[in-house]
Amino acid sequence: MSTNNGIRKVVIPAAGLGTRFLPITKAQPKEMLPVVDKPVIQYVVEEAVKSGFDDIIIITGRNKRSIEDHFDRCHELEERLSGQNGTEPYAKAFFALEEIPEIHYIRQREQKGLGDAVLLAEKHCDDEPFAVLLGDTITIEPIGCETCTSQMNEVFKKYGKSVVAVEEVPDYKLKDYGIIDGELAAPNIYVINSIIEKPAPEIAPSNLGAIGRYIFTSEIFDCIHKVRPGYGGEIQLTDAIRMLDHPLGLVTNCIRYDIGDKPGWMKAWIELTLGREEFHDDILCFMQELLKKEEMRVS
Ligand code: UTP
Repeated sequence: MSTNNGIRKVVIPAAGLGTRFLPITKAQPKEMLPVVDKPVIQYVVEEAVKSGFDDIIIITGRNKRSIEDHFDRCHELEERLSGQNGTEPYAKAFFALEEIPEIHYIRQREQKGLGDAVLLAEKHCDDEPFAVLLGDTITIEPIGCETCTSQMNEVFKKYGKSVVAVEEVPDYKLKDYGIIDGELAAPNIYVINSIIEKPAPEIAPSNLGAIGRYIFTSEIFDCIHKVRPGYGGEIQLTDAIRMLDHPLGLVTNCIRYDIGDKPGWMKAWIELTLGREEFHDDILCFMQELLKKEEMRVS
């Protein structure tokens, strides 16, 4: 685990309705959808802890109880497992962590948008800088590298400005992201002049989209207070970021999986399954057979 020199708090918004996932999300949170063998939000919490954040606030809502249950202790399971595996500690048995951090839950009663969800953490964050990690986005760092959030934190420590992780998105995907208008200021670092939520390709200022990882100074809360409902009638975090004093955009070397819709989820499953040694050969062989069948079907 890296130490992060000061920032301890991380806000994980996970209260959205997940309408793009219906009917799966009728009664279960999309943040609890499994990818390989753990729920999406577990990857997110593990990233936060690996990045040195030990004070975690999850924004939840109706039908999200299973998130709290997942991070709670389960004594029956622990007893059963300790019989089988010796005395592996709880944090290591279920999570890729030495210990489970303190997790606080705040309920968003009405799904008024991501900006509104982040604003609910204002009191808890006080005047401290904090990170926001979307609960439906996974980032995986290359072996031997720092997490996406740690890389952002390095930039925050150097410049003292809010940092938004961005990456190049294809034209057909511009309409799904907050897209920045920025100037390259240092390798992989952009000064953001503006940011537009889900623009049509013809008016997009670039193809650098925000990928769901942010570090903010407390200035963001004043900005969110000023935001009026925008795209989709929601309080958009993007509209608040536009009011910040020249935040920075950072392109990291991490791979990001957007679990916001069904194709994104399925692609994450496939790639992350292939990344696991115990499943790799079996699944690759199965995919090659499928591909052959598909080629025969279309020929
Ligand atoms: P999304 O806009 O992708 O989530 O928000 P959504 O609203 O659940 O999705 P659809 O469009 O209906 O399918 C990104 C993250 O922000 C959280 C979501 O839970 C997700 O993790 N979010 C969004 C909130 O916490 N509250 C909100 O009001 C909106």
